[in-house]
Amino acid sequence: MVSPTVHIPVLLQEVLHWSGLDRLTTHPRTVVDGTLGGGGHAWHLVEMLSPEDFLIGIDRDGGAIDRVTQFLDTHLPPAPDPTLTTSGNGTNRSTCRIRLIHSSYRELPQLMYEQDIPKADCILLDLGLSSDQLEDRQRGFSFRTGGELDMRFCTDEGISARDLLAKIDEKELADIIYQFGEERFSRRIARAIVERRKLDPIETAEQLADLVHRCVPGGKVHGRIDSATRTFQALRIAVNHELDHLTKAIEKLPDCLAPGGRLLVISFHSLEDRIVKHSMRDSNKLTVLTKKPILASEFEMNQNSRSRSAKMRVAERLA
Ligand SMILES: C[S@@+](CC[C@H](N)C(=O)[O-])C[C@H]1O[C@@H](n2cnc3c(N)ncnc32)[C@H](O)[C@@H]1O
Repeated sequence: MVSPTVHIPVLLQEVLHWSGLDRLTTHPRTVVDGTLGGGGHAWHLVEMLSPEDFLIGIDRDGGAIDRVTQFLDTHLPPAPDPTLTTSGNGTNRSTCRIRLIHSSYRELPQLMYEQDIPKADCILLDLGLSSDQLEDRQRGFSFRTGGELDMRFCTDEGISARDLLAKIDEKELADIIYQFGEERFSRRIARAIVERRKLDPIETAEQLADLVHRCVPGGKVHGRIDSATRTFQALRIAVNHELDHLTKAIEKLPDCLAPGGRLLVISFHSLEDRIVKHSMRDSNKLTVLTKKPILASEFEMNQNSRSRSAKMRVAERLA
């Protein structure tokens, strides 16, 4: 199937395998992609579903939902069978019943209740941001594409990175850069940001990247990655309260699974992986299927550098 995205889904074959969908013979089956992005994983999961099954796609970024909706309208014709009609935002396609929702995966229990969504046979979370977001200049996620420093997944929620940098306390900023970015020079960078904003606000991704490059020994390139990568990652995690959404969701998601249903979480940051690991291990509603996280193959790492830091953990809902 053609894809609506420039994003390359990580661990794709592993996700399809561990979804466990091929062992389920009863219908309807329900799959929730809690981080739809460009739908890279979702379109492959859809191919495993039948017309009576459901795919629920959720994303905090309304732009991602619009892009995928547009793609569906042009590429997947509505199903001819009127008995498959759903209410709300649902659309019946020739493949399966698809419902796309602009929200956080954290709200899944509420959404299931309000929209009468059956308990899920598979929930996938592929954390972080997509290449579509990274390449969108208006979002300011990347020092490469530049643009105004916003960095919010949902531009109606919370404050932008630019506003955060304008007022945050120096120590708090240093802690964010250290913890979420694992940046050794966090104090130096936070100090430089605070000094700079006394003269001039930091408004663009280029301005921030330039400032970080001047704080880090060796300048722009640090090993294989740009030295601004860690600071940008830290700000994105802070602006979107990403760990908070994950922590709250992961406690509640087992209740959204049908017995035998699977929760698959792909994380890219050690703090995220720790939350997922502990929460799956400590839940009395789940059994962990992956004692060690699943990593990308050497081949995938060479094809897609994003996959280098990906770790997937899978757990199954107990009966
Ligand atoms: C790595 S991308 C997903 C890519 C997708 N799996 C694909 O193959 O195209 C992560 C997506 O999760 C979304 N996201 C981040 N936090 C979220 C949250 N709390 N709830 C829902 N979506 C979220 C981002 O907006 C982004 O589109």
